[in-house]
Amino acid sequence: MSRPTPADFTRAPLPRFPLLLGPTPLHELPGLRAALGGPTRCPRILVKRDDLAGPALGGNKARKLEYVVADAQAQGATHLVTVGATQSNHARMTAAAARLAGLGCVLVLESPSESPAREGNLLLDRLLGAEVVIVAPGPPGVAENPNEAAAIAAAMERIAAEGGRPYHIPVGASVPLGVLGYVDAVAELEAQLAAAGAEATRLYFAAGSRGTQAGIVLGARLHGAGWTPHGVAVSPGDPEKTARAVALAEAAAELLGSDVGIAPEDVITHQEMIGAGYAIPTDESRAALRLLARTDALLLDPVYTAKAMAGLLRHIRDGHIAPDETVIFLHTGGVPALFTAAMAAEGQH
Ligand SMILES: Cc1ncc(COP(=O)(O)O)c(C=O)c1O
Repeated sequence: MSRPTPADFTRAPLPRFPLLLGPTPLHELPGLRAALGGPTRCPRILVKRDDLAGPALGGNKARKLEYVVADAQAQGATHLVTVGATQSNHARMTAAAARLAGLGCVLVLESPSESPAREGNLLLDRLLGAEVVIVAPGPPGVAENPNEAAAIAAAMERIAAEGGRPYHIPVGASVPLGVLGYVDAVAELEAQLAAAGAEATRLYFAAGSRGTQAGIVLGARLHGAGWTPHGVAVSPGDPEKTARAVALAEAAAELLGSDVGIAPEDVITHQEMIGAGYAIPTDESRAALRLLARTDALLLDPVYTAKAMAGLLRHIRDGHIAPDETVIFLHTGGVPALFTAAMAAEGQH
């Protein structure tokens, strides 16, 4: 990959609403390395702590929302309206960002129960003062939930009728503006690696709605990173989701005034950790969550980062990654989901 040239960024940086609270830490996981056989058997592993990015228990959405909330403000928005599951980290971070930006917030959350338990992220959504609208799941096999679409439209109309200006944020803030947050994250990481004199070979992370992946792949290209991005899928949906990541990366590049091309082959997404589906733990993800808590007191989340870590662990154990490599694990957050009855039922505590 070539170093960025001035021609790669022909546009002025877009405005950001400050949420991050500074660069997130990058540190070693010595306990994990020792547990996996030490330096002769296991690569050096660094963790990039985006679980500490931003307010209200943080996560990757803080980076995306910096650009999205700035755009909402530029458009004179009075309210943010977004969607997710009841344990959506994105919804919680949108509620937090709305507080800080002085905006109202409506969260349309899908749940099979009319009154889901107030726990984990949903508890925090309420605590942050968001208005929560619960909608039933759509018919099986239908990609777009019509109940969700109807509830969003109703919220947008109501806010407008009351003289406000609603701003709709699509699921996961996986829009071109949000992707820019992870292009910045790569620049931040590259500076930290340079300062530490470390040369990484790979970066592992959880791939969901793929905005994070799009930003990492684009950022790695634009900043000439020496490592390869390795997404670990937490839900099915490929090859469509890879096509989505490519389209998002290219649209984000355009926002930067760059015409770098991103090909589907640039978007590596390991599929073998999905298990029975989104938010359904696997034996390996359960084991990864418990292992990191005990080796390095690093708390992963059951939906995203435990599966991503399980993918990394499998690649280390099967010899796919050489002991002389340096690997970065991006912790994208999600820790509030640990504090749910579902987790307690898992017997993880
Ligand atoms: C904790 C956590 N990690 C990873 C992801 C995946 O990010 P993306 O949706 O951008 O692929 C999410 C998305 O909701 C998340 O909440």
